[in-house]
Amino acid sequence: MKHYLQFKDFSADEYAYLFDRAALIKHKFKTYERYQPLVDRTLAMIFEKASTRTRVSFEAGMYQMGGSVVHLTTGDSQLGRSEPIEDTARVISRMVDLVMIRTFEQSRIERFAAHSRVPVINGLTNEFHPCQILADLFTWLEHRGRRADGTLDVGALRGITVAWVGDGNNMANTWLQAAQILGFRVHISTPRGYEVDPAVAGVPRGDFWQVFDDPMDACRGADLVTTDVWTSMGYEAENEARQRAFAAWRVTPAMMAQAKPQALFMHCLPAHRGEEVAAEVIDGPQSVVWDEAENRMHVQKALMEYLLLGQR
Ligand code: CP
Ligand code: NVA
Repeated sequence: MKHYLQFKDFSADEYAYLFDRAALIKHKFKTYERYQPLVDRTLAMIFEKASTRTRVSFEAGMYQMGGSVVHLTTGDSQLGRSEPIEDTARVISRMVDLVMIRTFEQSRIERFAAHSRVPVINGLTNEFHPCQILADLFTWLEHRGRRADGTLDVGALRGITVAWVGDGNNMANTWLQAAQILGFRVHISTPRGYEVDPAVAGVPRGDFWQVFDDPMDACRGADLVTTDVWTSMGYEAENEARQRAFAAWRVTPAMMAQAKPQALFMHCLPAHRGEEVAAEVIDGPQSVVWDEAENRMHVQKALMEYLLLGQR
């Protein structure tokens, strides 16, 4: 049994398989071809933080594949009345086939997985957001990594440069794990005090990633520029200090002009126009943020199928 708790849980070959599978599953969805390999399977989703995209993409995706979904939050379950996460895992995993959790510390999802009889998927923790990077890479391949016959070439990621502008957070950590596995480079620029911690990110210091003081320098020559909110869920008490510290880490048209002319802009959403990104960038021609959001559903359908049924 496999879990998907962080990006490095899967190999490059598994990602190549998942991207192909997601493309096929997306095609079926777009052409109204019924595809229901998960009839009688149930996904439990546990949200200890808010969500729009993660909830809708997992829930709609599971129903489309013939399965069903149970939605729990901290407030409406015994988790909010201090039932241990280990006991919750033991109970829920006797009743459902798959669990997705969005929570705080990575250690919490690891404790759940250690006591679960069924696969567990990370729907975001303080440290990682692997489903989002799965969707982001799929989106990049759709736009920039197609072979002549239209299929996706995961090898096209090899050697590209991703510029990360902003917080050294769960998204930044996950980009670094993806870079190590799939062979691309990451340029990171964060304000002082908000750097990526390689020990937390679970990656070695190495030549596949480089730190820049000035976000303009990080964007120079990039194939993809990406950012995220200045204040992630769970860090709201730091919001005022972060607004001050991050003021120069807004992705602007001038910053995008440092990147390659064909560079794409990505943001996992939700976004704050005028904070981490200028409206002209997120609403501009290089932005693929709506494709990213939609692709959450297609890649997660492939992921759920793989965890429950293996390679097909
Ligand atoms: N990007 C993302 O995970 O969005 P939600 O917080 O809306 O799920
Ligand atoms: N870094 C953000 C991502 C939201 C999808 C957060 O953790 O709140």
